[in-house]
Amino acid sequence: MPDGGDGARSYRITLSGSGASFDCRSDETLLRAGLAAGLAMPYECASGACGSCKARLTDGAVSMRWPDAPGLSPRDRAKGNRILCCQSLPTGDCTIGVRAGAGNAEPVPRPMLAEVTEIADLCDGVRRFVLQAAAPVDFLAGQFVLLRLPGDGGYRAYSMANAPAGDDRLEFLIKAKPGGGATDVLFKRLTAGDRVDLEGPYGRGYLREDSPRPLVALAGGSGLAPMLSILRRAAGLWPDKPLHLYFGVDTPAALFCVDEIAALAARYPRVRATLALREGRPDDCPLPVEAGLVGEVMRRGEPDLSAADLYLAGPGGMVDAVLTQTVGANAIPADRVFFDRFV
Ligand SMILES: Cc1cc2nc3c(=O)[nH]c(=O)nc-3n(C[C@H](O)[C@H](O)[C@H](O)COP(=O)(O)OP(=O)(O)OC[C@H]3O[C@@H](n4cnc5c(N)ncnc54)[C@H](O)[C@@H]3O)c2cc1C
Ligand code: FES
Repeated sequence: MPDGGDGARSYRITLSGSGASFDCRSDETLLRAGLAAGLAMPYECASGACGSCKARLTDGAVSMRWPDAPGLSPRDRAKGNRILCCQSLPTGDCTIGVRAGAGNAEPVPRPMLAEVTEIADLCDGVRRFVLQAAAPVDFLAGQFVLLRLPGDGGYRAYSMANAPAGDDRLEFLIKAKPGGGATDVLFKRLTAGDRVDLEGPYGRGYLREDSPRPLVALAGGSGLAPMLSILRRAAGLWPDKPLHLYFGVDTPAALFCVDEIAALAARYPRVRATLALREGRPDDCPLPVEAGLVGEVMRRGEPDLSAADLYLAGPGGMVDAVLTQTVGANAIPADRVFFDRFV
């Protein structure tokens, strides 16, 4: 069916189980259109890596944004009809098999243009990027957007570090990956004034604002970005609730944003922050420092997690290890743990 006059077409997507259906443009993913239609579509990374959004295509056809996305295993590909909803753009009406409940209460992801307004080095290999979106961005603390950078066709997920304020400012803390497609552009080519395509917000590791429980946040490396957004928002919302941050890096040279965290802890007496270092100790640090992996340091500092909500973000291996040590050890119920694996 032709659409709006911009060359994109619109197709009807039907879920084979529930019979629910929604329209999806040929330039948007099944995931984005399903969420916009109010369906609780399954997903995690929204960028092709995790496989959480896998579906069976029983009728119709799609093209893949990232054809080699590892979210589909060689076995999935051999079946011939498995797709990733976060990568699939419809090329006709489709019927898909995916478990999607009704009632998506999260902000609707949209495409947007943004301009880079600030780039600052925070430590060796980590930079702050501030973008000004073309319109105010409605997001929840802890969510992320997909950035599509000039010169790199792929979409990569980056979490906002600022607290939502109903405005157009988006702050990111990004770690360089040697030889990485997106971070090469971010660290070597992007300058203030450049335009970037965005899509979002996405993410289910966001702050539960209706929870009465104390909050424990755990960040590995640039996983600090969504945890900082959550802490900033939570500190403003709940001056009396215990809010504990554990921030882990390998060495003192890899630390960043320490003064900002210390300022937050000084302003809000219930905010407590601990740094976890695998090796070495920083000089003159305004925050307590403990030796070890951040998950172990958190478990020492929080012997009883049973009454808390736990938020975590960082490298996939770190997140999985902490989930095993906490949910896997029955230290906290799974439905009180909210996370993003930076895959
Ligand atoms: C939910 C989430 C939030 C994140 N938030 C942050 C953050 O706040 N700060 C931060 O530093 N990092 C964050 N990341 C990691 C980030 O998305 C990138 O993986 C990282 O910056 C390395 O990207 P790269 O392109 O330089 O490396 P690459 O190795 O080129 O790519 C990294 C990953 O991107 C995917 N990819 C590769 N090619 C393509 C393609 N053509 N199209 C689409 N995807 C492709 C693959 O999964 C690959 O493993 C987050 C990741 C996730 C999933
Ligand atoms: S949500 Fe689609 S692969 Fe992760």
